[in-house]
Amino acid sequence: MNWDRAKEKMLADAAAEARKRAYAPYSGFSVGAALLTEQGKIYTGCNVENAAFTPGCCAERTAFFKAVSEGEHDFAGIAIVGGKTGEEPSAICPPCGVCRQVMQEFCDPQTFRIILPSGSEKWEVYTLAELLPLGFGGQGKI
Ligand code: THU
Repeated sequence: MNWDRAKEKMLADAAAEARKRAYAPYSGFSVGAALLTEQGKIYTGCNVENAAFTPGCCAERTAFFKAVSEGEHDFAGIAIVGGKTGEEPSAICPPCGVCRQVMQEFCDPQTFRIILPSGSEKWEVYTLAELLPLGFGGQGKI
């Protein structure tokens, strides 16, 4: 993927748009994610909570599972926007450990970009390797 600021901004905006569809009545914390394939297609996701709590799913995994279930396996990056429902987020929302492990399953840790906006014009960028050092990729399993 040839990244530039416009592409990062486009993905950040798509995540902010997806965040509007978050179903988070229990935590009051709404998250949106936008996952970009190497072919340039975007899959969005939001967190989807549940009265029984554990069945809930993070925005990032919603996006990944939508994409993988459509046959996608080549991913360039993901933008994640989260914060209190009804407020504009002013801090980054780094992905939880479980979502990082799902990224590890499908993405190249050295090149996969994780874009974390802290406002509409400001964001930080990390590789998966930076956020999940020594991630388990199944090497050496039977
Ligand atoms: N959540 C996400 O969707 N992604 C993250 O990266 C962090 C947490 C969701 C899970 C739960 O619905 C709510 O945010 C509060 O933890």
